[in-house]
Amino acid sequence: MTANSPFTHRFEPGDRTGAPPLLLLHGTGGDENDLLQLGTMISPGSPLLSPRGRVLENGMPRFFRRLAEGVFDEEDVRDRALELGEFVQVARERYGIDAPLAVGYSNGANIAAALLLMDPRALSGAILLRAMVPLTDPPAAHLDGKPVLIVSGQQDPIVPSDNADALAAMLSAAGAKVDHRILPVGHQLSQIDVALARAWLAKAKQHAMAT
Ligand code: MLT
Repeated sequence: MTANSPFTHRFEPGDRTGAPPLLLLHGTGGDENDLLQLGTMISPGSPLLSPRGRVLENGMPRFFRRLAEGVFDEEDVRDRALELGEFVQVARERYGIDAPLAVGYSNGANIAAALLLMDPRALSGAILLRAMVPLTDPPAAHLDGKPVLIVSGQQDPIVPSDNADALAAMLSAAGAKVDHRILPVGHQLSQIDVALARAWLAKAKQHAMAT
């Protein structure tokens, strides 16, 4: 990407026809390398676009500012989501990829949800792992049946279950085709997340081909 690209990122070209490009969005304290392996496990052969969050919290990269754990600076969420949408657009032209499917974990899942609501054209859908509502009063978005998988942890100390439910309801109301799964786990990712995401994506691809 050009030297003035605002996001440090990795791009791995895919090697399998029909494998959808993935936009990988890491959690707090992660970076552009964190989710590459997860992306390959969920969708072997997919092109992988993986930016590093530009906000630093005590030196830890994130995708937007927060005021406390679970309390977001919503003006920043909006600005950063739009900035990420612009990055995706420029990256698509540069790397010759279709609108990607976001795969976000924790803070990365939250910015992916915000991006869906702020700039629906940027993404073909999303896998949101341990996500919460990113905006209390989002703009009216038209998600036109975009597939979204939300995977929550029953014992997640960071994401209250009613918050994850509210996100699922918010995205459904905006027109997304939401599948919300709740696993008997905490905030950390598990092998079940990978298996679930992989199976869900295979099904979503079949559905896309049939319609
Ligand atoms: C966030 O700040 O986006 C969420 O609280 C998840 C986290 O990063 O801990």
